[in-house]
This record gives sequence, structure tokens and C-alpha cells, in this order.
Amino acid sequence: MTTLTPIGLVATAVSNPAAVNPVPERESLMTAHPHNEIFAPDPAFAEQANAGPDEYERASADRLAFWDEQARRLDWSDEWSEVLDWSDAPVAKWFVGGKLNAAYNCVDRHVEAGNGDRVAIHWVGEPTDDARDITYAELKDDVSRTANYLSSLGLVAGDRVAIYMPLLPETYVAMLACARLGLTHSVVFAGFSSAALRSRVDDAEAKVVITADGQFRRGKPAPLKAGVDEALGSSLDSVDGPAESVQKVLVVRRTGIDVDWQDDRDVWWDEVIPSQSTDHTPEGFDAEHPLFVLYTSGTTGKPKGIIHTTGGYLTQASYTHHVVFDHKPGKDIYWCTADVGWVTGHTYGVYGPLSNGATCMVYEGTPNSPTEHRHFEIIEKYGVTIYYSAPTLIRTFMKWGREIPKSHDLSSIRLLGSVGEPINPEAWRWYREHIGGDAVPIVDTWWQTETGAIMISPLPGATATKPGSAMRPIPGVEASIVDGDAKQVPPEEQGFLVITEPWPAMLRGIWGDMERYRDTYWSRFAEEGYYFAGDGAKWDSDGALWILGRVDDVMNISGHRISTSEVESALVGHDSVAEAAVVGADDATTGQAIVAYVILRESAPEDTDRLELIDELRATVSREISPIAKPRDITIVPELPKTRSGKIMRRLLKDMAEGREGGDTSTLSDPSIMEQIRTKGTRG
Ligand code: WT7
Repeated sequence: MTTLTPIGLVATAVSNPAAVNPVPERESLMTAHPHNEIFAPDPAFAEQANAGPDEYERASADRLAFWDEQARRLDWSDEWSEVLDWSDAPVAKWFVGGKLNAAYNCVDRHVEAGNGDRVAIHWVGEPTDDARDITYAELKDDVSRTANYLSSLGLVAGDRVAIYMPLLPETYVAMLACARLGLTHSVVFAGFSSAALRSRVDDAEAKVVITADGQFRRGKPAPLKAGVDEALGSSLDSVDGPAESVQKVLVVRRTGIDVDWQDDRDVWWDEVIPSQSTDHTPEGFDAEHPLFVLYTSGTTGKPKGIIHTTGGYLTQASYTHHVVFDHKPGKDIYWCTADVGWVTGHTYGVYGPLSNGATCMVYEGTPNSPTEHRHFEIIEKYGVTIYYSAPTLIRTFMKWGREIPKSHDLSSIRLLGSVGEPINPEAWRWYREHIGGDAVPIVDTWWQTETGAIMISPLPGATATKPGSAMRPIPGVEASIVDGDAKQVPPEEQGFLVITEPWPAMLRGIWGDMERYRDTYWSRFAEEGYYFAGDGAKWDSDGALWILGRVDDVMNISGHRISTSEVESALVGHDSVAEAAVVGADDATTGQAIVAYVILRESAPEDTDRLELIDELRATVSREISPIAKPRDITIVPELPKTRSGKIMRRLLKDMAEGREGGDTSTLSDPSIMEQIRTKGTRG
């Protein structure tokens, strides 16, 4: 269905009253330029869709009543007295006084409804002969056993548990067991360094760390527990003393590689969990009880622990998963390719789909292990119907070539999703054509760790789409695009994306730092009470919303958020580096790539091999943060471009990194600097 009919977009023209968007002109749609194509919802898809255009009207007629209705998708042990209490803004309370258990909603209730035999997780390991199916009934038993074990350790609701694991069934079980007990989990991406793990364990004062001996990466086992030992201060490589808060480390045997063992602290999962009772009665927790903390980069070097709740979060996770992915329980095979280390893995890998009784694909490895066919083999074998992935992976598939997806039967797919960064129109079209058989809807979903769930996205049966546009806020969400004075910008003009009304899955703060919470998100438009998302955006003249990327010092590398200052501080942590400036430069595959400019210390040995040093610096960043944060280019320069007041002019470095010549250098303290960098820099 590639017809460029004008229907759809007009019918569902953005009716967000707060945004007061221009009503799209029929004419402008009829003459749509090929690069401004519009895909109306396929009538056959719309016919069976979970949400139609009336959803927008119902939501805008009474937003709180609308969310009240969505909360009833879940089972609550206690009813709430008020939908929203915003009197303590910017800290919201949703579903005041309501009580529920997130794990009960994601697991038990499906078994009670007679769907215990339905597969909850089709798990596929990285080694090709390694796969397991887990039904809802089995998941309930595993979660109950694990909950019983964790309570036997004396953990009580409100305690924190760190989870540092590859994508295993046990990872799901661990998260859900925490949720069942009201233990706030903090999942740390297993690709993060031990230093990153340590700072997160300390910040949240986690009492238990759940991990695995190792993980399979590109066909080989790689250690993971060793990183935990280093993080917790129990290995020879540890730099800090022991992590005070941690009492137990629970270790899943995944690869069988050798591990060091600390008898009073470490326990094997398979020695303590299977013997536990499967009887466990879930308790209802307050709607506002913190379900999890997830750390994400901000504009300073210190990651922020984003706090999410039980009731509001689960309501929006469940609702959006239902309407944006048009998910049909018992029929769809749903695959969100994100790792649980990121918010996408939390909301659309675990809580959204499981709350809706979904059958989820979970794949442990990388898309090219053992070959570049892996994702397509999985789609074909399991009959995946909904596939939710990221632009960076789509562009990687494009690079590998269309012949790869073409050699598989992908006809089971009926919906595609994208998240993490703006999807360029070429990648959008390729995705639809080569993965979606030129027929299926694509939902480009904008949201953030902080928003907890999807905020801006088409509804596949109700909203026309344009390649590259996230289209419009979902029902129940109010967004606007404003200038620096909080005034709405006219169409085609760039402004700041703001959320103008509270939403159920919104973050409730930053762990241990509520001041930073107010500052980061609510001070920019304090008078209006708008949430400042940190993204630039525009409406086009058809009323479609385009996300234009970050407006702060946060980079987006393959959909992963990394701050320039985090990388800078890792670089200056190296003995030879005096100063560093980092920028995100456009990159054809990863969206942005990290480009660093460093000045060496006077004390750096004269005879240092500069290219070797550059390699060492890359390794330092990888070790301090993660391999994801490794700079693509590092240039050793004699000086950095600075204003007279000493502020580094990153804009000029970004221009240089993206190959543009001659930005305005008139405010530089020394205008010849850029020329010196160009001619005297050593780049590697
Ligand atoms: C930032 C949030 C939400 C899950 C993954 C990332 C960018 C996210 C889109 C999209 C354009 C997007 C934004 C946002 N972003 N989705 N569909 N189109 N940009 O979560 O790490 O919290 O990053 O990712 O810049 O602010 P995150």
C-alpha cells in the first residue's frame, strides 16, 4: 500500500488543543512531494485495529477520565480515590491510594485467566542450538521461587536490587521477582563497565546484585561476574574499597567459565532458586511505589537515576503497547529487540507486553551472530508479527544489503516499530519495503527514559504516517513546540519540544537528587509548568511532528544516550590528557558518532607515539564507561577553540567534525586556533 492518498492525516489531524496546530490543507497533501509522502492507514488494518481515530477525541474530551479508563486495563487490589494529584508539582501522584502488584499483572493474572499454557517468552540464546520456551505458568513458578528466595534474604519492599545480566530468561524472572516483592530494581546494561556498575550500585545502595558468570558475545563466552567482583571491590583490579551496601551476589550459570568466588557473599542461582516453593502470594503496593530506577546520561558526568512508579508507569506501558503495536494476545509474536539494560527493554521488552499477556521473542545475541541472517531467521522460524527496533540497526541492515532479508519469508510481519533516534526517511522507506513487504504500518515512537513510555507516535490504524516523522502525541499526552519564551512556534520553524500536562508514566524524580530533577526538566519553562524534553522539534505544514535531535550536550550514539561531559571526564582521567572537548558528529550508521579533541599535558612524555596514545585513550573511555562510548575519532590538538571567557566553542568543533569549513570564529580568543587544529592536529 504505497498510495499517496490524502485521507487519514486529515481525518486524524492533530487535535491536541494545547498544541493548536494548523489544520492541514487538503491541497498540500494532494500535491505531496515524493519526499513528503503520506501513508494512510490501510483500511483492512484499520478495520481490525485496537484503536481508531475516536481514541484521540475521547482522550482530549477528558484526559483524566481517559487515563482512569486505561488504568482499568490492570488488576488493582485497591481502588484509587483520585486520578491525578498534581498539587506537589513537578512530582505527580497518579491513581492516588490505588494498590497493585506489577508482577501479578504481568504474570499471575494470565494464568488465572486460563492462559497458563501460552508461551510468555520464546528465548533464543546466541549459540544457535540454544533456545527455551517459557509459558506463563512456568514464569509464574519461577518468579514465585525467586521472590521466596529474595525474601528469605531479609529483603523488604523498598530495598534496591541491581541486575547486571545478559538477556536471559532469568533476567526477566529477576526483574519480575523484584517487582513482586516491591524491591526497586536497577538494571545496569551488561555492556557497561565495572566502574559504571559500581557508581550505580553505590548511588542506589543496592543490597543484592544479580548477575551471570559470563555472557556469549559473537560466539564466545565473555566474563561478567569478574566485572562485578571488580566493581564491588573484591578483586585485585578494584580501585575502590568494597561496596558497603551489597550483601549478596546471585549468579546465574550461563557460560560455565571460571569465576572467583567469595563464599560469604556469592551464591549460584541454580543452587538456591529451583528448590524454593512456588507458593507466593503477591501483595498490592501503592501506585506510587518505586518499581525501578534506571540510570541515564544527563548533561553532567554523573548519570541520573530515573525513578518510575508502579501504577502510572504500568498503566501507560500497557496502554501504549496495546494501541501503538496493535497487539493481539494469543495471536501475535512480538519482538522488541532492545536489551533490558535500556528503558525500551523495560517498557516494551518486559512490562508493557507481559501486562498484556504477549508472547515475546527474546534474543540474547547480536544481529550478526553467527551471520547477518540471524534476526531474519528468528522472524521466519517463530513467525514474528510485530518487530520493534532502532534506526541504527535498520541502517546496518541496509549496509548488509537487501538480499539478506530477501532470502527469508518475512510475511508474518504485520507491524514495524522504530525508537531511539530520528529515523531518516531513507531508512524508513527501506524498512517498510524490505522488512515490511511494502505493506505494513511503521510506528516511529518518540519517548525517553524519563517519560517511561511512548509519548509521540502514530496509532497504526488511525494515523497517517510520513517517513521520518513521529506524527503526533498519543491520546492522553499533550505536547507543544515552543521558542525560548515558551511561545508556540509556527509550522516549519524549529523549537523546543515540551510536554504541557503530566502523564501517568512520567518520572517521579532523580534518585537522591530531587533538586536536579526540578532543575533539569522543569526550570526551563517554570512559569508555564512545562516538561522540557531536551529535544528540538517542528510541526510541518501538514501538522506532522518532526523530532530534530537533542538541543543539549547529550549525544545519541546508536540510540544510546551519552553525554559529552561523561566522555570528556573519562578522557581527562588519563594521565597524559590536560583537556578534552567532545562533540557528536553526524554518522551514517550510528546516527551520531563521538569525536574528541584533546590537549596533552606538558608532562606527557615527549616521545609519546601519538597514534598509540590515541588507541590508549579509546580503551580508557571504553573501560570507564562502555565500548559504546568509544570515540570514533580522537584528535590531539595544540589548543581548543575558546571564547575570551574560556568557554569551549563546541559548535566550531562540531562543524569541523562534520566536514564544514569556516564557522564564525570572531568570538574566539585566538581566531587562528581552528587553523592550528586543522594543520597541527594528530588524528586517529
Ligand atoms: C532520547 C531519549 C526511549 C527509548 C530509547 C531512548 C531520542 C528517542 C526517538 C524517535 C527521534 C528519538 C530523543 C530522546 N529519541 N526516540 N522516535 N525519534 N528521537 O531513550 O536513552 O532516554 O533517549 O532519544 O533525543 O530525547 P533515551
